[in-house]
Amino acid sequence: MSVSVSHNRLSGSDVRSRKSGTPLVCLTAYTTPVARLVDSECDIVLVGDSVGMVLHGLPSTLGVTMEMMILHGQAVARGLERAMLVIDMPFGSYEADPAEAFRNAARLMTETGAGAVKLEGGQAMAETIRFLTARGIPVMGHVGLTPQSIHMLGGYAVQGRGSDGARVAADARAVSEAGAFAVVLEKVPARLAAEITTSIDVPTIGIGASSACDGQILVVDDMLGLFTAFKPKFVKRYAALGEAAERAIRSYAEEVRGRRFPAAEHEYADTAEEISC
Ligand code: KIV
Repeated sequence: MSVSVSHNRLSGSDVRSRKSGTPLVCLTAYTTPVARLVDSECDIVLVGDSVGMVLHGLPSTLGVTMEMMILHGQAVARGLERAMLVIDMPFGSYEADPAEAFRNAARLMTETGAGAVKLEGGQAMAETIRFLTARGIPVMGHVGLTPQSIHMLGGYAVQGRGSDGARVAADARAVSEAGAFAVVLEKVPARLAAEITTSIDVPTIGIGASSACDGQILVVDDMLGLFTAFKPKFVKRYAALGEAAERAIRSYAEEVRGRRFPAAEHEYADTAEEISC
């Protein structure tokens, strides 16, 4: 399937040049209508593998496939004019070796029109990031809490507290030096986020990593109050759309049962004199 790419979209080098400038605004999106809503306010729109938990009801991001990412990537691409489209590499598609990572990253980009891929991991992924960026694939790194490694990390705990901060800082440095144009820092202490942000050359994009970062990202369904299965401390709910939807669905059900919907204005006449759709 062919994808049309808007040439007005921001690139990895545009994003990189925003280091220490006006904070980068980033959100996830998984569908065309949401991409249209976020495009004008966002610098980066991420088709995150959080799609597996948020839209598909999976228990973690581990079950997300290349096919899921491509379908959602194509949907989001149709809704973006200006923001950079970044797509997550799913678990198992890039870790084994750089050549396989290249094949899968190239497929994600050519089949969706994304401007970059994001992959999780620090020092262990530096060689792969170097391989991809040397071959024309812009990469966004992701260190700190890396949800694809929950079975190694033992859950979704804060990463880099105390002496463990050196490991997370080394991960961020490795990813930046390998050629990533930006690095997501997830769920790390504020002090460490500030230290990493001042010590690496590319923008840090925080999620649970304080306002010291060069930008922020949230899962759009979390900040709109649409995904309510759990709420990490770092999520701020800017709306309660889930509750609004529940109220609307309750009203609809009551009106259908009471024969108050559909009303006369929702019915079609037998003659075609009205303009109808
Ligand atoms: O999958 C995702 O949505 C992400 C963001 C939370 C950074 O990786």
